[in-house]
Amino acid sequence: MKLIDKVSQAVHNSKFYDLGHFHEAWENPSLRRLMGNELLYPPSPQVIEAVQSMIPFVNYYPEDAISNVRLLKALADYVGIPGGEKWIALGNGSMEIIDMLPHTFINPGDEILLPAPEYTPYARRPLIFGAKVVDVIPDKNFEYKLEDFTGKTTPKTKMIILSRPNAPVGNMVSREIVEKLCQTDCIVVVDEAYTEFSEQTVCDLVPKYQNLIISRTFSKAMGLGGIRLGFIVAQPEVIDYVNRIRVPENISVLTQAAALAALEDAAYIRTNTKLVIKSRDWFQDEIAKVPGITVYKSQGNSVLLNVDGTGKTAEDYVQHLLEKGFIVRNLSGGRNMESKGFFRVTVGTQDDMEQVAKIISDFTKA
Ligand SMILES: Cc1ncc(COP(=O)(O)O)c(C=O)c1O
Repeated sequence: MKLIDKVSQAVHNSKFYDLGHFHEAWENPSLRRLMGNELLYPPSPQVIEAVQSMIPFVNYYPEDAISNVRLLKALADYVGIPGGEKWIALGNGSMEIIDMLPHTFINPGDEILLPAPEYTPYARRPLIFGAKVVDVIPDKNFEYKLEDFTGKTTPKTKMIILSRPNAPVGNMVSREIVEKLCQTDCIVVVDEAYTEFSEQTVCDLVPKYQNLIISRTFSKAMGLGGIRLGFIVAQPEVIDYVNRIRVPENISVLTQAAALAALEDAAYIRTNTKLVIKSRDWFQDEIAKVPGITVYKSQGNSVLLNVDGTGKTAEDYVQHLLEKGFIVRNLSGGRNMESKGFFRVTVGTQDDMEQVAKIISDFTKA
């Protein structure tokens, strides 16, 4: 028997997503983790206390995410839909949502429009459900016009996915474009993983457009990547369909406790967000002074650089920074990022950014 003949079409359509950079960081805890767009500040003491208080009860199953009305309500309040517990569904990180949405809407052969570049799993996971991903290509500064999207729609286009701020660049597809896309016949998914750092959202458009779905996460501004919680904001009918395919009990007891505590300490989230924004803007301005490096202005918690003009490659910088104690992410060779010069730096503390800026500047001159 050849096992490969037995596996599903989904397996044939899929590729392994290598997250080796997280392995490297966990294996080398003395390195500063500027490679995964995590928050470099620790969780709120209230979150730590809430998780600790639930540890003695992990012999019990969690209540299913759909019935934890307290948490759903707190999330609805957080995104500006007060009392809107029926407008929220939960995923095990927004990574799970990246599967849940095509699972809910895609039939084999349906097309998904996706900016290139985008957060990598968006180009891969929908293939498992038989989607065809159609690249939406920006200009050379990674800026998008409405026609970049509308010019690619066909009768088979079922879904349009974009991140706002855009990953991995950090720039914004305009609110006007999002609203015009909502007026098409497609499901529009806006991933707002980094939204707190941009201080803008399109969540307020959800009551107006039944086809708009916003994806959010606790992994960025909330600083809880390790607890794995993502959620969507959409009209109740959408939430109902998504909950039909959602894996029951996908959110652990500890995650539910951590999330509620994090929302109750929203001031802590805001304080950290402000620190990240300040350090990000400082870092961008500083690197912009280095000859040969292109800085893509970011509204997220990371900054994309291109070092083509320095005579060195991104890999040279990544290795040099590693020797100095910082892991950053080489993005060269990604979708629509063919040049060997792209790498991305997550915004850490101000001290991290001052050190990294100096290392990059000195290495460029060397
Ligand atoms: C745009 C975007 N969406 C989602 C995620 C994943 O978030 P989560 O930790 O909630 O799975 C990331 C992670 O880097 C991201 O960049």
